Amino acid sequence: MITKPKGTLDFLPDDAFKRLHIENRLRAIASLFNYKEIRTPTFEKTELFKRGIGEETDIVSKEMYSFHDAEFTLKPEMTAPVIRSYIENSLYNVSPVTKLYYISNMYRHERPQAGRYREFSQFGAELIGSSEYVADVELISLGVFFLKSFGLKDIKIKINNIGNLQERAEYINSLTQYLLEYSVDLSEDSKIRLEKNPLRILDSKNPNDIKILENAPTINEYLGAENKLHFQNVLEGLESLDIDYEIDYKLVRGLDYYTSTTFEIVSDSLGAQNAVLGGGRYDKLIEQLDGKATPAIGFACGLERLTLVLEANNYVFPEEDYPHIYIVTSGEDARKKALVISNKLRENGIYCEIDLLNRSIKSQMKEANRYKAKYAAVIGEDEMKTNEVKIKRMNDGSESGINLDEITNYNFN
Ligand code: HAM
Repeated sequence: MITKPKGTLDFLPDDAFKRLHIENRLRAIASLFNYKEIRTPTFEKTELFKRGIGEETDIVSKEMYSFHDAEFTLKPEMTAPVIRSYIENSLYNVSPVTKLYYISNMYRHERPQAGRYREFSQFGAELIGSSEYVADVELISLGVFFLKSFGLKDIKIKINNIGNLQERAEYINSLTQYLLEYSVDLSEDSKIRLEKNPLRILDSKNPNDIKILENAPTINEYLGAENKLHFQNVLEGLESLDIDYEIDYKLVRGLDYYTSTTFEIVSDSLGAQNAVLGGGRYDKLIEQLDGKATPAIGFACGLERLTLVLEANNYVFPEEDYPHIYIVTSGEDARKKALVISNKLRENGIYCEIDLLNRSIKSQMKEANRYKAKYAAVIGEDEMKTNEVKIKRMNDGSESGINLDEITNYNFN
């Protein structure tokens, strides 16, 4: 038997219906905030991710699915592709502020575990063109709005400001100095990171690293007046919307394009991979990708993780509709008639099902029950002669007759 690749998921009909429900909710809420959908290719030139996300990040250095002599890569995230498209299609000419959302599959060659897959799906929003703190607050409130619309309560917003490039460089310098004193005690991963990307050590889950970090310098000490004020304004804006947050000076995120505000929404029901949504400002990315200097902020929410959180919170997904009527047949003429009638019913928007296996009346009725059909009608020799059929309501067995040619007028509610 050939099985699916490791770290991928099949969405069987029930799962696909749940996903559709989530996506419909997302689209409706994105519209309330005036976001427009963008779709980009499944693969991009590898160079885009190297320059956009950063060569030393885990994503670029270890997790990319690259092919054709590494010229192309399946997208591991959407911010770089959205910005590539924004620049390539001169979207800045359309409006000074551009609000885009996407729902798309991403690919990262990670070690699969609960909530971490090699193919996964993100809903993301990118707000391009404003450096104002209101943009940060509105964007974060979109993510919160969406999660709260499912009645989620066990979610927590973590927020930080990681400064501009210069502030961050100074911070990295002092963090490195501090960590060098403890370098022999750091975990093997952190030792490597100390040379390549010291900020990533702040993310370490190793207990000893966490202990060493307790007294490490924090980024807020290195912020200039502008970022301090911006951070303060963002926090006050969130408070004005009754959005609770927790400041986390260690929240640096795993992609190099971030500047200033960074945030994550985490859920206790997720275990180790507890971030359901993450994002931040990336005010330098557009010029880094050869566009005109333009500030921007965005986030992405993992839809598999969101589904896990919803299930852990006993969220009740809506049920898929059941057939309005199952047409049971007996005899060749009835079968032919049912084919024509079912087609007419469907043309009139009535969800119906017929027997496709030439089964007995009894097993067709069984099937009607299994499908939870609201009504059933039996067409046999008598009905073919009189052209009259009885429509039976399945939940109470009540019946009423109708002319076969007028069945589309029947009230199937
Ligand atoms: P990210 O933190 O890499 O950010 O991913 C965002 C979310 O995608 C995570 O919080 C998680 O829910 C989900 N996710 C990431 N990797 C996996 C995985 N292997 N399996 C399942 N879910 C996963 C970004 O991707 C940025 N582009 C977000 C952003 C948009 N920043 C600014 N704009």
